[in-house]
Amino acid sequence: MSELAINGGKAVRDVNSNPWPQWPIWDEKEEKGLMEVLHSGIWSYNGPKEIEFNRAFAKFCGTKYSVCAANGTVTLQLALEALGIGWGDEVILPGLTWQATAATIIDVNATPVLVDVIEDTWCIDPEKIEEAITPRTKAIIPVHLYGAFSDMDAIMEIAKKHNLVVIEDCAHKHGGEWNGKKAGSIGDIGSFSFQLSKHLTAGEGGALTTNRFDLAEKLDALRNCGRRPEPEDQDVDKGAGVYGDEGNFIQSGNYRITEFQAAVLIEGLKRLPEQNKIREENGEYINARLAEIPGVAPMKRDPRETKKAYFNFSFRYLKDEFKGLPVEKFREALDAELGIQAEPSYEPLNNCSLYVPLTKPSRHRITEEYWKAIDPSRFDLPVCEKIYNEGSVCMHHKVLMGTKEDMDIIIDAIKKIYDNAEELM
Ligand SMILES: Cc1ncc(COP(=O)(O)O)c(C=O)c1O
Repeated sequence: MSELAINGGKAVRDVNSNPWPQWPIWDEKEEKGLMEVLHSGIWSYNGPKEIEFNRAFAKFCGTKYSVCAANGTVTLQLALEALGIGWGDEVILPGLTWQATAATIIDVNATPVLVDVIEDTWCIDPEKIEEAITPRTKAIIPVHLYGAFSDMDAIMEIAKKHNLVVIEDCAHKHGGEWNGKKAGSIGDIGSFSFQLSKHLTAGEGGALTTNRFDLAEKLDALRNCGRRPEPEDQDVDKGAGVYGDEGNFIQSGNYRITEFQAAVLIEGLKRLPEQNKIREENGEYINARLAEIPGVAPMKRDPRETKKAYFNFSFRYLKDEFKGLPVEKFREALDAELGIQAEPSYEPLNNCSLYVPLTKPSRHRITEEYWKAIDPSRFDLPVCEKIYNEGSVCMHHKVLMGTKEDMDIIIDAIKKIYDNAEELM
């Protein structure tokens, strides 16, 4: 008789009687905020909720400014534009990230340079950054992937040495802290996503954080069709901005969020510290237990992470130590035991179905040299490929919102698959 749920055995968790925590989380406070917006008639455009959220989010991130925008893709694009990155510039980023981190670089006519990651954090490898720097390099975009932290000490040192700007892609790291400094406050600009899968969400949305007034002012204009920001929109201290007293306009588009999104974000942000605490406690607990069992390993957490801000629950799979069971079979079996999807990491960007700049010649074939430079297949990313093909398991962060018993259930499921791996061979 089969033991494993995938073969008809009894699952470790019966999600009908014992469901995982729900996501997203909301209550009557969101309802109240949304109704206030509805009745006010101020549904968008620098409204009171957006201003309130920007102030609260800047405080939460330990930055002077926060500027909301439509999503975490356009925030990356606006960050690049505000920093003057464009034609002829190279931007270094990890090969393992969501496609937007690279696609937005191409959207500002710059060249993405993909570099490999570190196997036990899945974040950009600082040594590989050094190797990729050329006279054209202008920026680095570290991505704090799945809640791990990029080595910000090494990255900021490289940036200083080579006079580069740093945009932190914090789409997975709301509230994380590196040596006491919040994610999004260490580089020149932080870029956040509030898409439904993120741990602060309004369905869609994004924000940019910075300590520099000139950048805050530019970002504010860029998300608002290039209009000069009104000082009362932000807690601006009117430093030396780009506009001067007369103020001109700059070319841009509409990347604003609505007041409905801001109303939901205000309430979500109030819950986030407590939720981060629960995820961190569970993350630390389950990682310690993962380290005890064969065939899997926890993601490495750096002691310089003073607040860990776990995002998706991800861990490493070691096929050889798991009796040679292919990772796809392991993930399917885990899914069946736990009733929650177990997925691989993002696809490496040198071979990613959603990062295909060469499908748009009318837009991107600016010169033959550029066309060759943006061909993702020219990059060699052996560690990213190994992680994606053989070594990654990722689950929705709601699993980390449960109890210690929930964490034990995940461990039981992994052990059960290990003990019965022969059933899947
Ligand atoms: C690392 C990373 N950067 C940027 C984004 C883009 O965010 P959005 O979906 O809000 O456009 C995502 C979204 O998944 C992401 O994971």
